Amino acid sequence: MITYRLANAFDLPVFVSLDKELFPYSPWSASQYKEEFSSPTRHFVVAVDADQKIIGYAGVFAPGAAEADILTVGVVPEHRGKGIAKALMALITNWAKEQGTTAMMLEVKTDNREAIGLYESLGYSTLNIRKDYFGAGLDAQVMRLELS
Ligand SMILES: CC(C)(COP(=O)(O)OP(=O)(O)OC[C@H]1O[C@@H](n2cnc3c(N)ncnc32)[C@H](O)[C@@H]1OP(=O)(O)O)[C@@H](O)C(=O)NCCC(=O)NCCS
Repeated sequence: MITYRLANAFDLPVFVSLDKELFPYSPWSASQYKEEFSSPTRHFVVAVDADQKIIGYAGVFAPGAAEADILTVGVVPEHRGKGIAKALMALITNWAKEQGTTAMMLEVKTDNREAIGLYESLGYSTLNIRKDYFGAGLDAQVMRLELS
């Protein structure tokens, strides 16, 4: 059974190690995650399997009555296609709404078909492309969802 919970400081090493696997082009360091976890404007959640192993995670920056930024969302390959990312996105979006967020924003690599499919399925539309956002030759698609 898959369940969802708030992330905590003990999860930090797992975030760092999964980042290296899922985001080899832009992994966050332990110190970056430590700083993010300690900020009240950030919210991180995890999906865990029956053994309490983390199989997915997501995070958002929501500074109040303004736009929120999706910081990360990832699911381990063996658990993809089960709606886990969708559930994680719903949790962080609901939290952002509670903070008064007016719109959700994110940057995704232009060749990341799975992620773009996920965001489009949630109603996000593309605003523009940022050249070399993730490094030389790695462009980002900026996407946005208006919250009513
Ligand atoms: C993108 C990612 C998070 C999707 O996780 P997931 O748990 O498999 O996604 P879900 O099962 O919740 O799927 C939700 C929707 O995403 C879309 N989607 C998922 N996989 C897809 C694929 N292979 N191709 C196109 N669309 C896809 C679909 O619209 C899907 O909805 P549907 O099943 O109702 O059709 C996962 O592939 C991943 O971790 N990728 C590597 C990390 C990454 O790139 N993260 C995004 C950074 S911006």
